[in-house]
Amino acid sequence: MAKKKALVQEATEAQAVTETQAEIAATSTEAASSPSVATEAAPKPSNPPKAEENLREPAEVKYAEELAWLESVDTGNKPFSWRLSPRMIRTFILGTQPGEKLARKIDQKFFGDATLVERAIVTLASDRGLLLIGDPGTGKSWLAELLAAAICGNSTHVVQGTAGTTEDQIKYSWNVALVISQGQSRDSMIASPMMKAMQLGQMGRFEELTRCTSDVQDALISILSEKYIAIPELSTNNVVFARPGFNIIATANSRDRGVNDLSSALKRRFNFIHIPIVTNKKSEREIVMFRTRDLLRRNNFDIDVPAVLMDVLLQTFADMRESAAAAASDDQRLESSLSTAEQIGVLEDAILYGNFFGEKLLTANALARSVIGGLVRRVPEDLSVMNKFWHAVVEKHAKENKKDNTWKEFSEGGKSIMSDMSK
Ligand SMILES: Nc1ncnc2c1ncn2[C@@H]1O[C@H](COP(=O)(O)OP(=O)(O)OP(=O)(O)O)[C@@H](O)[C@H]1O
Ligand SMILES: [Mg+2]
Repeated sequence: MAKKKALVQEATEAQAVTETQAEIAATSTEAASSPSVATEAAPKPSNPPKAEENLREPAEVKYAEELAWLESVDTGNKPFSWRLSPRMIRTFILGTQPGEKLARKIDQKFFGDATLVERAIVTLASDRGLLLIGDPGTGKSWLAELLAAAICGNSTHVVQGTAGTTEDQIKYSWNVALVISQGQSRDSMIASPMMKAMQLGQMGRFEELTRCTSDVQDALISILSEKYIAIPELSTNNVVFARPGFNIIATANSRDRGVNDLSSALKRRFNFIHIPIVTNKKSEREIVMFRTRDLLRRNNFDIDVPAVLMDVLLQTFADMRESAAAAASDDQRLESSLSTAEQIGVLEDAILYGNFFGEKLLTANALARSVIGGLVRRVPEDLSVMNKFWHAVVEKHAKENKKDNTWKEFSEGGKSIMSDMSK
């Protein structure tokens, strides 16, 4: 009864907010239609987005055709209601394996140790959840998305963990208006993404698990061990059971509040897989190029990314990681984790710059600007670390690589930007 009263009050408050919003909307509509505001002559954008276009497609949509093809040739055993067999899932994620006889080539999408991916797949067929841990930008969320897309064709049952995540967001909440008009029932209940995944026997994803409070983390324990969610507010039909195929893929950032802060009860219900930073230059080049091609295609950009500049970028990141590892304290290393994702961000920034303000050509100068602009976050700490690095390492490359002017231009460009920043 008390709960219902609280819900009614909540609804009244919600209505008040809606009414206020309606007033604001009405005011702005009035303003827009008032003669003093020139709306009639507003030009139409020259390239409006098409209705069917989304800014970013989930992996199951992006690779729909490839997944359907793999499913059609898959003769392996599939656990539960999985869409693909474990071997095919590995092929989808890691690309065609040597010795594998498939009629078409499958591109590699996640770059990392094959055993790591295999262990992740095996875990998801077991009773335990999967927890991917690693530095920021190491591809944890990307791997989680690929796994969910390949296993159940839906990677969008996602709960984003924050300090403000509540138990309702993991279990269920109520549609207040329906509760008032019809009372509490399954119809007036709003299932969380996790509950939907349970009902459909699919993968539920939990991003940034360690950012949540322990109460919220504990709510997962019952889901992972009992595989059901009880709804005590209802007198009948009050348990939602997980269908076979349900499991949880969680991610945690090793730089956030420690993974050790997870309760031991929860730790016991997850298999932990550590995702390392990619340091192999060949793999890193492929990841960066893969994402860059995406950017160019999405924006219809026609811009040249010279191979020699890719080498400069990869070498600079490798050198920066080496000097960060050798630094004695946090003040002597950049705040950035120098992950592959940071590298993608730097290159994207340089490409956008070159496209909008340059000569449709990526230059060493623009790349230096993006490296420094993207990685110097704390001024003066990061600026001083970067300055030392530039003089000791980048300048040395510029002196040694006399074949062309790329390193020299890169070095000079960086120095001039840092001198502007320190003014
Ligand atoms: N090993 C990898 N293989 C393929 N792509 C990668 C890899 N590492 C990073 N990436 C690329 O970097 C992008 C960012 O990675 P993602 O968002 O998955 O990182 P994350 O580990 O979840 O980071 P955070 O902890 O900040 O959430 C991905 O979209 C992907 O394109
Ligand atoms: Mg992530």
